[in-house]
Amino acid sequence: VLDGLRELVGAEHVLVDADVRAGYEVDWTGRFRGATPAVVRPASVDEVAAVVAYCRAEGIAVVPQGGNTGLVGGSVPLDGEVVLSLRRLSSIGPVDDLAGQVTMGAGVTLGALQAAVAPGWSAGLDLAARDSATIGGMVATNAGGTSFVRHGGMRARLAGIEAVLGDGSIVRHLGGLAKDNTGYDLAGLLCGSEGTLGVVTAARLQLVVPPRNVVTALCAVDGVEGALRAVRQLRAAVPVDAAELVLDEGLQLVRTHLGLPQPVTAAPAYLVLEWDGAVEALRSVEVLDAVVAEDEGRRQALWRYRDAQTEAVNAVGVPHKFDVTLPPPGLARFVDEVRTLGSGTTIVFGHVADGNLHVNVLGDDDVDDDVLRLVAGYGGSISAEHGIGTAKKRWLHLVRSEAEIAAFRAIKRALDPAGILNPNVLLPPL
Ligand code: FAD
Ligand code: MLT
Ligand code: ZN
Repeated sequence: VLDGLRELVGAEHVLVDADVRAGYEVDWTGRFRGATPAVVRPASVDEVAAVVAYCRAEGIAVVPQGGNTGLVGGSVPLDGEVVLSLRRLSSIGPVDDLAGQVTMGAGVTLGALQAAVAPGWSAGLDLAARDSATIGGMVATNAGGTSFVRHGGMRARLAGIEAVLGDGSIVRHLGGLAKDNTGYDLAGLLCGSEGTLGVVTAARLQLVVPPRNVVTALCAVDGVEGALRAVRQLRAAVPVDAAELVLDEGLQLVRTHLGLPQPVTAAPAYLVLEWDGAVEALRSVEVLDAVVAEDEGRRQALWRYRDAQTEAVNAVGVPHKFDVTLPPPGLARFVDEVRTLGSGTTIVFGHVADGNLHVNVLGDDDVDDDVLRLVAGYGGSISAEHGIGTAKKRWLHLVRSEAEIAAFRAIKRALDPAGILNPNVLLPPL
């Protein structure tokens, strides 16, 4: 089998050495670990199609992998699958300045895309793992991030897709037409399918016009209610590009981890706010204290208190991570309640304007059921942006009906009849 794969992509792109494989066999958090006989690194859509067709014929399951920054264990070969790494599909086409669109390979990192389209355009997407997360992985997970409040997530940015389905066939629809009602929306379907329906090989994205005058402020607020009030007030005044919540425990964790100073008056909670407009807009917002970035260096320094939450949590231990959406009226009460669950330490932060909180529990491996049932009880979602992966599939029934899960299974059978694409994620076992 390995020889067959070598013939398809070249011997140097079938990685079998244990040391080289190691980085592909464990997830970013260190919680999910597997093993693979080989990491296969195709360089084109035709090579991807050939590998998938070959694996299907040989009855070998495949786990697609991009930057391996996913947070639900979806990119790890838990059951001896072949890892299909898309990172070599890394070309970026020219920007179509009329449509504001660009086509790129699945292996392009978000950071590379952002740099390639600047300064005239912005990707309209951002997240702290930008330098490793790939566009293919972000399509597969329908990634959200800090710009969601203004521009929506990956599904909203997707103007076209190219992918290899489970039978090895190639579907390509990259024209980027603004209006195109010609049947099923395959791009929308593959977006968020977590590698279970097709391997994304290229995407066409709708870019956005960058803000004219970015203002970034780190504000101290009296808690979650205070944060929500401030976001509402700012939104009434200006277009808000980011509204990120950090609680004091999280801010102190980052300070300790990176050796940073207290950036603003100490408070129960903080907001990183970014908007397009005048700094005076802050006058319409009730906060306890605020610091405003005067230049790009200071802006990045303020963002560190938010962006470094994930790495600071992981520096303490391997967390159980929950990425949940709550109806906004329940957010503050949920935060109080979730912190009482289990015996671990709970760090909460997130994209508060979207009702999306990241709950990280350190030191309690049995807390999942309690947290996810609490979320469902609030009418929330057990995955806002990271996906279901392997971490949450046991709980899918809390938020999806039997009829919905049956429809998911039917779609899976149609696009991946042999069930070889990422078999361990999303769908609960029968
Ligand atoms: P991987 O981790 O390699 O894979 C993720 C899933 O997609 C797996 O199921 C995999 O099988 C599948 N997949 C990967 N590539 C393909 C492909 N080409 N075709 C088909 N399936 C594929 N996520 C957010 O949504 N918002 C955030 O704000 C955010 N912040 C983060 C911050 C940090 C510090 C870290 C470590 C992660 C963060 N994430 C965030 C999670 C992660 O970055 C995203 O889920 C991202 O979309 C994963 O991209 P990736 O290329 O690393 O995918
Ligand atoms: C974030 O918004 O920083 C993330 O989605 C990552 C996390 O949940 O740790
Ligand atoms: Zn997030």
